[in-house]
Amino acid sequence: MKISIIGTGYVGLVSGTCLSEMGNDVTCIDIVEEKINNLNNGIIPIYENGLTELISKNKKNCRLHFSTEFDSIKDSDIVFCAVGTPPNEDGSADLKYVLSVASMFGKMIDKYTIFATKSTVPVGTAEMVRSAIETELNKRGLDIEFSVVSNPEFLKEGDAVNDFMNPDRVVIGSNDNRSTDIMLELYKDFDNVIVMDTPSAEMTKYASNSMLATRISFMNDISNLCELVGANVESVKLGMGSDSRIGNKFLNPGCGYGGSCFPKDVKALIKLGEQNGYEMKVIKSVESVNEYQKTTPYLKLKKELGDLKGKTIGILGLAFKPETDDMREAPSLVVIDLLLKDGCKVKVYDPIAMDECKRRIGDVVEYCNGIEDCMDETEATLLITEWKEFKKIKDIKYDGVIIYGRKI
Ligand code: UDX
Repeated sequence: MKISIIGTGYVGLVSGTCLSEMGNDVTCIDIVEEKINNLNNGIIPIYENGLTELISKNKKNCRLHFSTEFDSIKDSDIVFCAVGTPPNEDGSADLKYVLSVASMFGKMIDKYTIFATKSTVPVGTAEMVRSAIETELNKRGLDIEFSVVSNPEFLKEGDAVNDFMNPDRVVIGSNDNRSTDIMLELYKDFDNVIVMDTPSAEMTKYASNSMLATRISFMNDISNLCELVGANVESVKLGMGSDSRIGNKFLNPGCGYGGSCFPKDVKALIKLGEQNGYEMKVIKSVESVNEYQKTTPYLKLKKELGDLKGKTIGILGLAFKPETDDMREAPSLVVIDLLLKDGCKVKVYDPIAMDECKRRIGDVVEYCNGIEDCMDETEATLLITEWKEFKKIKDIKYDGVIIYGRKI
């Protein structure tokens, strides 16, 4: 099939590349010229396992193209929208990019085409997209058939290619048979394709991410209580997770969830409830537990050392999770901020997120060359991201206090 993907962020780039690997002819479009030039020169803007190789293979096979022009929309069977939906000040999702892609789609198509939304959007967006497209077609005086489909993405950063190629499920939200058949044909190699209406597909994405965030906040609450009553949360986790109704995944306590999805989607779901006159009580608590949890390494440190003024503290791990350089909503940023406000000198090390950290906070911390360098001459070390290589801190001779924000 001929496919255009608008937006070459995480979701767009991974989905586009994988759809080309599945044998489709894919054009990935972005308005940022530098990004497209880089992609055409083999420079990949994100760190993602296996992605660089897959892009270069499919470019060579002429099934994957990168462009700043929207022309390919005209020949496409499906146009995927994978642009960002950043949070507004009030936590709701900002749809301006999605709706501008919809308008562009309405300006360009001259035959039946599917508009498929991969961006995470609030329930009801498919209808807004449909009306933005109709407005443009009316302006052109054309009556061209099109379908709006919701096809949410469930990729995890760091394992995104594998997630796309071996999905637990593919969700297709569609309100008509013509688009359902085309989407089923696109995903014919996958076993678990679930078809539903568009509002349900849009809700499925928020509900899934919020459920996962709930498990994490629940476990963080349990872990905090375990520490107070002398229970071992790892044993509790094993005991709970062995119940097949509970399962053992996503039960790891730590210093809170971060990243580009959970924090944003949890906020958006709370907002969606408010907009509909309903209070999402569970998910509101999930968010407040998470805000608190991000401060726990700092609180534990204060308990150990008392006044922190003038102390030198090492931070191991800056990315919001291992195997990525992404620092969006990372607990490390909260901890660094608290330490600096208390007058500490902060040394940091992360296997790949050092440049990203420099870009975000500049030289307010000292950037170190490795684990030992980061621990050297510090009163305490806080382990914030559970990179595999941090396991060796247990073998390093160290007189300071180690606070394990995450289990390694
Ligand atoms: C997540 C979802 O997993 C994915 O399906 C969705 O489409 C996008 O959001 P991602 O943000 O890449 O993916 O990361 P994920 O691996 O899910 O971790 C999210 C956060 O939860 C991280 O900060 C991680 O450290 C934390 N986490 C995860 C825990 O604290 N405990 C756990 O048991 C699992």
